[in-house]
Amino acid sequence: MPTIDIFEAPEDAAERAARLIAEAVRAKPTIVLGLATGETMRPVYAALVADHRRNATSWRGVTVFNLDDYVGLPADHPASFSRFMRETLFDHIDIASERCWMPDGMAPDLAQEARAYEARIAAAGGIDLQLLGIGSNGHIAFNEPGSDFAGRTRVVALAQETRAAAALAFAEDDDVPRYGLTLGIGTILQARRIVLVATGAGKARAVAKAFGAPADVACPASALQAHADVTVLLDAAAAAGLAPG
Ligand code: GLP
Repeated sequence: MPTIDIFEAPEDAAERAARLIAEAVRAKPTIVLGLATGETMRPVYAALVADHRRNATSWRGVTVFNLDDYVGLPADHPASFSRFMRETLFDHIDIASERCWMPDGMAPDLAQEARAYEARIAAAGGIDLQLLGIGSNGHIAFNEPGSDFAGRTRVVALAQETRAAAALAFAEDDDVPRYGLTLGIGTILQARRIVLVATGAGKARAVAKAFGAPADVACPASALQAHADVTVLLDAAAAAGLAPG
């Protein structure tokens, strides 16, 4: 079962995630990281940028594979995950741009892009450390409820709840893309180590289903129960639905 650490404040959970990642980068300067987007990750990346400035942790040899992106959204669109990564992290550290990989949701052949993305991860030696958030419906990356726990990188239809949560970043609700290109749960489970961060009361139900109940495809994050090295970092609000102890 995952190791679960509960912090009073969301900033403390984010700080811990950043510390685990920075320590991993220092221990293995050529590490392959799997990174995530979402509001939960802003303070994590802010803490990593602060660590880069304060401790001069170098990202020069690091390779990053992001989990997912929208289908059909240009990389410079304000809501694209590619832009999120540049603005919150990549532009502020010394990572080489040719080692920052995002699934390309604009690729003309998405099935081919999905296969190529998997092949690139394999060629890089696999993901050493995967950072994850969780959707309020229990999704990880864009693997929505019902996703196969052995699934690979592919195009998925986004759940209504996921589109509603994303709507703020778009001018009109209807502009939210209907499809995403995402790493599969099976791909995610191949990472050697996984760190999941969840903060806020809006995640309490998903966290309780993921880690406080038997694994079930209705909650994609519950697939992580089968992985040997998962650390779950929560604030008190997100942990509220878990039994004490
Ligand atoms: C999106 C991303 C997920 C992320 C989730 C939660 O759906 N595809 O990777 O975990 O949002 O985001 P937030 O941290 O904004 O709640």
